[in-house]
Amino acid sequence: MAEQSTNPLRRPLPDGIVPEDVVARTEKRWIATMAAMLLLMMAIIVVTGITGALHPSSNVELIDPTTLHLQGEFVESNLGTALEPDRSVTVRMIATQYDFVPQCVDVPVGVPVKFRLTSADVVHGFLLPDTNVNTMVVPGFVAEVRTRFTQEGEYVMPCHEFCGLGHHAMWAHVRVVPQSRFANPTFTERRTCATQ
Ligand code: CUA
Repeated sequence: MAEQSTNPLRRPLPDGIVPEDVVARTEKRWIATMAAMLLLMMAIIVVTGITGALHPSSNVELIDPTTLHLQGEFVESNLGTALEPDRSVTVRMIATQYDFVPQCVDVPVGVPVKFRLTSADVVHGFLLPDTNVNTMVVPGFVAEVRTRFTQEGEYVMPCHEFCGLGHHAMWAHVRVVPQSRFANPTFTERRTCATQ
């Protein structure tokens, strides 16, 4: 007891105040817990890496970035907004240094919209502020995001992955327009903001 009284932090404390040794013990437990979690997460990364089980998290769809303009889904004539038989739409775009192609797309309000993007060169980002649309666009993969716009208006779409010197100038636009604008296009038509 005499030893305790020499150290003011070890004296009996009023209610609600935690003694120094209890604080130290709790901190040590937390440090051990954090270290164990870190080790576990590092172990998971190493093990999944070694066994080849590490994948990009979402929609894994491979595509050859060197032939996008020649064949397949992302040829120029297939870019833009396409109306599906169930009246939902699919928007296909290519991200490239330093542009989205097409630069502006129209989508109807209130219907399911599926964005499919891929990159022709480096990693880009695709983000529509105030929506759930936010994905990386990685060359060699097709990024797919589904959403539904509840209000008409224009969304500005910045590239949000640093992709080179022109990154800050890489923008596109999504215009959410009345459904009537999509009332009677043929299913093969592809629309951009330039389509009348
Ligand atoms: Cu594309 Cu930053």
